[in-house]
Amino acid sequence: MRHIVSELLNPVSSRLAPIKPSASAWVSQAAKALKSQGHDVIDMGLGEPDFDTPSHIVEAAYEAAKAGQTRYPPTGGTAELKQAVVAKFKRENELDYSNSQIIISNGAKQVIFNALMASLEPGHEVLLCAPYFGQYKDMVLILGGKPIELSCSADDKFLASAAALDAAITGNTRWLILNAPSNPSGALYSAQQLDDIGDVLNRHPQVMVMADEIYEHILFDDQKFVSFAAANPQLKERTLIVNGVSKAYAMTGWRIGYGAGNQALINAMVTVQSQISSGACSVAQAAAAAALNGPQDSVTEFRIAFERRRDLVVSRIQAIDGLTLDAPAGAFYAFVGCDYFIGATTPQGKTIEDDTQFTQYLLEDAKVAAVAGSAYGLSPFFRLSTATSDEVLNQAIDRIAESIAKLSINREITNINR
Ligand SMILES: Cc1ncc(COP(=O)(O)O)c(C=O)c1O
Repeated sequence: MRHIVSELLNPVSSRLAPIKPSASAWVSQAAKALKSQGHDVIDMGLGEPDFDTPSHIVEAAYEAAKAGQTRYPPTGGTAELKQAVVAKFKRENELDYSNSQIIISNGAKQVIFNALMASLEPGHEVLLCAPYFGQYKDMVLILGGKPIELSCSADDKFLASAAALDAAITGNTRWLILNAPSNPSGALYSAQQLDDIGDVLNRHPQVMVMADEIYEHILFDDQKFVSFAAANPQLKERTLIVNGVSKAYAMTGWRIGYGAGNQALINAMVTVQSQISSGACSVAQAAAAAALNGPQDSVTEFRIAFERRRDLVVSRIQAIDGLTLDAPAGAFYAFVGCDYFIGATTPQGKTIEDDTQFTQYLLEDAKVAAVAGSAYGLSPFFRLSTATSDEVLNQAIDRIAESIAKLSINREITNINR
């Protein structure tokens, strides 16, 4: 009998070769390992609201299950939820869509994957504005596309200018992905800036826009959200809006996201989804419909809590010499500059070479898990999630301040740009 030499078998497709373990994966694994050794780790890496899903939404799922909504749902989404999404776009964004221009997927993430899978040819370029949600890049790479990263500095409020986008677009550009309010920076484009970007895209008919608006409702200082497609009605047919219930309704575990756009693209995305997962969970769709159609008080409550936490984190971080942070316009993250500490020496005599090592130091010394800016394509920064209680936020920032105070820096702390 012949023996199969198992060492020779590599089960992993070359498609995955460009995907490197991310800084966020590293930090969550390292935090878990420390916790399992009994350390008191504060996890500021999480990207989800800490609130419970409002009870009327949970009830709707229960009622749907009892009413027998337990079979395969339609691949692109139930008529009830699509209708709720259509009504949401009309009510909140002044946008008209029909049910057939909507897709319901397993989270916004699957909407994005479906869209890229349905539209990318090998070598197609996808423009990402750094700092960006790290998964965009990995999805593009898995699908054989070419991510093109445009750095948007803190001085530019982490926003891409129309001129910079114009210069980055080539004949091969298939998508521009815009995410506002942004994960990780919280940055938001004004209506005028969206208009200027629209003017650029008018000149490049080969480019489609993926407008990831999942943090739409987590917006501060009484700002009004303007959807990309509403600011640029002439580009509506070339725009895919990505949104979902995860962040606005504290429903990350229910896995419901939705997309709205061009009929041909949506049809192709439904075809992709039919091969991968079929329709999203039937009772979760009933819950999402209840979220969109029902009372919106909890959305306001969550927003107010996130704004208070944003204020707390901004004032406390700004009081730490060497860290830089301007108040984010939305979302529940602080993207903190740590340039001053690159090159610093830890009490153990180790030099901090980059933001990954800075977050490693925070984890080891402060026992605070944060994600390095490199995970979002822009360094040297680190992202703190503010989706936790005031008490935990204060405790985490106390610990960060104490650990930072132990670093030896061979420079004067005079020219810090705050
Ligand atoms: C910018 C952005 N888009 C999409 C998603 C994915 O959302 P979902 O949980 O609905 O898949 C996230 C989640 O962190 C996000 O931050």
